[in-house]
Parts: sequence; structure tokens; C-alpha cells
Amino acid sequence: MTGLFFLADASGKGFWMPPAASEYAEHVDALFMFILVLSVLFFVLLMGLTGYFAVKYKASPTNTRSSPVSHNFKLEFLWSAIPTVLLVVIFAWGFRDFTSLSATPADALELRVVGQKWNWTVSYPKLDRECTSNSSAKGENVVDFYVPVDRPFTVQLSSQDVLHSFWIPAFRVKRDAVPNRYTGYTVTPTRPGIYPVFCAEYCGDSHSQMRGTVHVLTKEEWEKDFLGTDKCKLDPKAPDYKPKLFAKYGCNTCHSVAAGRAVIVGPGLHGIYGKEEPTSAGSVKVDDDYIRESIEYPSKKIVTGFEGKNMPSFKGRVTEQELAALIDYIKSLQ
Ligand code: CUA
Repeated sequence: MTGLFFLADASGKGFWMPPAASEYAEHVDALFMFILVLSVLFFVLLMGLTGYFAVKYKASPTNTRSSPVSHNFKLEFLWSAIPTVLLVVIFAWGFRDFTSLSATPADALELRVVGQKWNWTVSYPKLDRECTSNSSAKGENVVDFYVPVDRPFTVQLSSQDVLHSFWIPAFRVKRDAVPNRYTGYTVTPTRPGIYPVFCAEYCGDSHSQMRGTVHVLTKEEWEKDFLGTDKCKLDPKAPDYKPKLFAKYGCNTCHSVAAGRAVIVGPGLHGIYGKEEPTSAGSVKVDDDYIRESIEYPSKKIVTGFEGKNMPSFKGRVTEQELAALIDYIKSLQ
């Protein structure tokens, strides 16, 4: 939709919008323009007619109101039907675009984003990288992170403390990071460049300092300047960070991680990620949400046969980053 009159020029710079740098942004802008043009057309039409009639039927000796019109079926039908059709079109269009945020293709790049007062952490679970915030000269906490162009990436959002919202204006996406649960979206950047990221949910004193920068790289830059460098790389001297964490919290005293899923106290964890498990609350697919819930609220959905084992809750004891690392560790046991 680039070039839709004054919406954007070839570089994606718009008259009043930031550049449209994702597929989704182009869709959002197109719908925005459709609604704007429609509103302007109807505004001009209705105000014009109002003015025209006000003049035409103004009080004068020749205008009498001896037979006012009480109703007109055709007219009433039209002024109900046309807005209804337009509203249905707008809803269907908006709904289609909105649901596209939840469609995650298998080749999407996975990112985890944790919000906390007052900075963002962006990690790449499959790449063992984690980008953390740096203080800028203006006292802002800015996280620089990197994504390749034309490849969808999916953001899994969570919060360490209060509500935050991960907003990338150039991509036209924004979603709340909510404590104790995962939210997220999938989006495909379409223009290499550097775009600002904000927190869009008031979260306390330094809300406005909670900033970020997303670098959309070309395929070559992604290979060479990100994957080929140590940018955001986790300490290579600590490759056993995840199993150590698993032991630090004593998970290993109850859960075996070896193939065969031997039972120590609780269920063995080898190969369970992605499987369906029978639990006290019915069959449950083992995914990030279920593992998270089982760490924080172990008694909510107990795997059949393990009732009464009373796993303690780790709610408030593990940080968001540690939760993510434990989930990744369990995921890696394949
Ligand atoms: Cu975080 Cu506002």
C-alpha cells in the first residue's frame, strides 16, 4: 500500500506516521486511510447537505410547513443499510489483520521480552543471546536488539513487576506485558533500518526512560553483523547455566532429566515439551504456559499419578529470566 497518496513515500516515510516498516504496518495504515477517507467523504456530504438545506428551506414568506414528511421507508432503509455494510467491512478487515498477529509460522525467529521497572530485556532462546539495556546520555535505559528483514519474528512478552507495553510504532504493534502470564505477537519487518521502541503503559516514575531500538538488518547483515559477532551473546564460559539453575532451585531432587523419564518424586521431564499429558484438570499440552504455571502454581494441574506429592510453589522466588531459562532447559531435553 506504499504510496497511497500522502500516506507514505517510497522510503516508507509518511506525512504524519512513522515509516511503515512491517507487513502489518502497511495493513494497519491501509485500513486507517480507508476509515479516514470514508469519514472525510461522509463529513463533507453531510455538512454540505445540512448547509444546503439550511439555506434552501430558511424561513421565508414562500416556505410553508403545511405537510411535513413523517417517514420515508426507502431513505430510512438506505441510511441504515449503507453504514451497516461499511461497519461490517471495517470490522472484517480489522479482524483479519488483528488475527494475523497471532499466526506464528514455524520458521519465525523467537524472541522473549521481559519488562521490568524500568527497562526491557530481549533474549533469543534458540541463539543463546540476550540483549540488555544500557543507559543513554539522556538517562534513558535503551535496549538494542536485532532482527532480520522479511522474516517473521514472534515476541513472547512477560513482566517482572507491573504492567508494561511493548510498542514498536514503525511496526504498528503494541501489546501489554502482563505479570504472571505470557502474551505476544508475530510480525514481519519489511524495511531495514533502526526504529524506536517504547513502553506504552504507565509503569511508574521512569516509564518514559524505558526505551529500546530495534535494528532491522538485511539478510547479509544478520549473518555477518549479528550471528557472526558476540552481540548480546550470553557468557560463553557458562554454557551450563540452565542445568545449574535447575539444580540451584532443587528441581533435580524431584525431577529426572534423563531419557526414560525415571520417577524420582515428580514426573521425569525428558521429552515432555510439546506432549499431551493427562492431569487433574484434563489433558494438557506441555508448553511455555503450562511449565510456567507448574513452577508458580504446581497444584493447579497435577499430572495424573502424582497427586499428593506437594511440590512447593516457586512463585516470587524465580525471576522472569530464570523462568524463561528453566522453560528453555526443559524444552531442550529432547
Ligand atoms: Cu514500562 Cu511504562
